[in-house]
Amino acid sequence: MTTQPPMKILITGAGGMLGTDLGNVLSPEFEIVGLERRPVTHLSVPYDICDLTQARKTRDAILSHKPALVIHTAAMTDVDYCEEHQDEALANNVSATENVVDAANEIDAPIIFYSTDYVFDGQKSGEYEETDIPNPLSFYGKTKRMGEEAILRVAKQAIIFRITWLFGIWGRCFPKAILRQAAEVTKMNVVDDQVGRPTWSWDVSQAMRQLLLNKKEALFKPGVEIFHLGNSGTVHWADYARFILKNSGLGSVKIKDIPSAHLKRPAPRPTNSVLSLDKSEKILGLKLRSWEESTLEFLPKLKDELALLEAKTKAQAAEKENAAS
Ligand SMILES: NC(=O)c1ccc[n+]([C@@H]2O[C@H](COP(=O)([O-])OP(=O)(O)OC[C@H]3O[C@@H](n4cnc5c(N)ncnc54)[C@H](OP(=O)(O)O)[C@@H]3O)[C@@H](O)[C@H]2O)c1
Repeated sequence: MTTQPPMKILITGAGGMLGTDLGNVLSPEFEIVGLERRPVTHLSVPYDICDLTQARKTRDAILSHKPALVIHTAAMTDVDYCEEHQDEALANNVSATENVVDAANEIDAPIIFYSTDYVFDGQKSGEYEETDIPNPLSFYGKTKRMGEEAILRVAKQAIIFRITWLFGIWGRCFPKAILRQAAEVTKMNVVDDQVGRPTWSWDVSQAMRQLLLNKKEALFKPGVEIFHLGNSGTVHWADYARFILKNSGLGSVKIKDIPSAHLKRPAPRPTNSVLSLDKSEKILGLKLRSWEESTLEFLPKLKDELALLEAKTKAQAAEKENAAS
């Protein structure tokens, strides 16, 4: 009996919040290679350095690996930074995506692309369906929609997953920001007029594993399809902050609910970020657990990882000091 070699998957943004979890979840069963813009110390999968805004380098990197599937997570995700650095946002979220699609097309590799609830204006009263018309408010949302359009226009085979309110160990996210603030204050202001589905990058990665193991044919067919994906349940940011604090032993820190208008951030955010999850459940069989369950599992893991990282940084500093003396 001959055994098939594992499918080769190339992950862009391999050291980012989602990219790192994808590599960790998929590497036992698939051959993973990553692309990153700069060296990353926490990565456990092999990766090449490649700035995806450079078309030639991106093409060379992807063609040299000839993956059977490209998972494109790389993006400029700091929403306020994108608002104030629009040329950079266009390069990293649009040109880079075009470069990745062109290279994937050349080797007939399907693409998984991640987009966002920020392609919508948040004015709908119910859940957003995949067929609703995008109308992004922020420049980040505009560039992600332009990335979607590039995929829809050019990709031979692709799935666009719109994901939402992502949190994870390996990137900037709301739970980390709340815990960091809580270490310094006894009360904080958090907005209560934006509603969404907090979604763990680990759970999105597990859903990709399920897709590849059980519904691979959805990827390897001509055309592009959009799906919404996220942990189930909804919450606003202030209640989410309360949940995080209460379950981290910091329930004494008080949250004051405020409207978004009080924050005066550079980029506007949608009020309603709730994406309908029906299509991905019905067609792909993907159903993620509740955001509460995920957050409860995430919080102690985050604490452990941060402690490990701190110990590693201290050890590296001590090593440097020893070498210098
Ligand atoms: N975070 C959220 O709340 C959220 C919500 C909905 C959808 N999404 C989407 O989900 C995907 C993953 O998000 P994430 O939070 O995991 O992002 P992330 O943590 O910011 O990671 C993105 C990674 O992509 C890399 N990258 C960006 N531009 C690049 C370029 N030109 N060449 C090579 N690498 C580049 C970044 O490297 P540098 O660090 O060097 O820039 C970073 O390692 C993105 O497409 C995002 O738009 C995110």
